Amino acid sequence: MKSAIVFGANGLVGKEILRKLEENPAYSKILVLSRRYVASDNPKIVSEVINFENIHKYWAMISADELYYCLGTTMNQAKSKAKFFHIEYNYCLNIAKIAKHNKIKKFFYISSKGANENSLFYYLKVKGQIEQELKALDFPTLAIFRPWILLGKREQFRFFESIFKFFFSIFNFLFIGPLTHIKGMPAKGLADYVLNTASVVMSGAKIHYNNEIHSYLNNKKKQ
Ligand SMILES: NC(=O)c1ccc[n+]([C@@H]2O[C@H](COP(=O)([O-])OP(=O)(O)OC[C@H]3O[C@@H](n4cnc5c(N)ncnc54)[C@H](OP(=O)(O)O)[C@@H]3O)[C@@H](O)[C@H]2O)c1
Repeated sequence: MKSAIVFGANGLVGKEILRKLEENPAYSKILVLSRRYVASDNPKIVSEVINFENIHKYWAMISADELYYCLGTTMNQAKSKAKFFHIEYNYCLNIAKIAKHNKIKKFFYISSKGANENSLFYYLKVKGQIEQELKALDFPTLAIFRPWILLGKREQFRFFESIFKFFFSIFNFLFIGPLTHIKGMPAKGLADYVLNTASVVMSGAKIHYNNEIHSYLNNKKKQ
C-alpha cells in the first residue's frame, strides 16, 4: 500500500488528482496539506490546514511515498511579480527540499506548456526555473507535467481563461496530429495521466508534454 501527499487539492487539477487517489485501492493514506480545509468522509484522507509561510513547522508531516504538487497561483491573484515568484517558486522549492530530505521517492509537479527559464513570459520563466531546481534536487523519480490550457469547472471566474475555455469547448476536437501540442487539457484527463505515470516504474526526471498526455487519453478511449 502506498501513501501520498497532495498540495493544491482545492484547485482544478489537485481536486481531480485527489479524487483519483481516493478511488485507487493502492493508496492507503493520503495527506492533504492546504490553506483551506478539504472535507472528506473517506478515512484514508487526512486534511491539515497549514501556514505555507512557515512550512518548516510541518517538516515531519511531509513524509510519504509520493508527493503531488498542484499548488499554483496567477499573476492576477498574486498582484505582483515578487508575490507570484514567492508563491510559485519559494513554496514549491521549500516543500521539495523537505520532501527530498524526508526521502520522498516520487515527486509529481504540474508545470505548464512552454515552461522555460529563458522565456520572455514571466509565468513560463518561473515555471522553467522551478523545473530546473526540482531536477537539481535529484529525486529518484521526478515527473513534470506540461499541460496547455486546463479545462474544467472552477470555483472562481477567470476572464481570459474563460475565453480560451469557450474556444476549446467548441473546437477542441479539431486539434489532432501536431495540433495536440496546443489542445486544451481536461483537468480530469490530466489527473488520469498523472496517476497512470505514478503506477509505472520510472526513475530519473521526465517531462510529460501536452501531446503525450492527449495521446495516452486517446488510446485509452479506443480501448
Ligand atoms: N490554468 C491553466 O490553464 C493552466 C495551464 C497550464 C498549467 N497550469 C498550472 O497547473 C497548476 C494547477 O493549476 P490549477 O488550475 O489546478 O490551479 P488552481 O485551480 O488555481 O489551484 C491552485 C491551488 O493552489 C492553492 N494556492 C494558490 N495560492 C496559494 C497560496 N498563496 N497559499 C496556499 N495555497 C495556494 C489553491 O488553494 P486555494 O483553493 O485555497 O486558493 C489551490 O488549491 C498550476 O501550477 C498552474 O500554474 C495551469
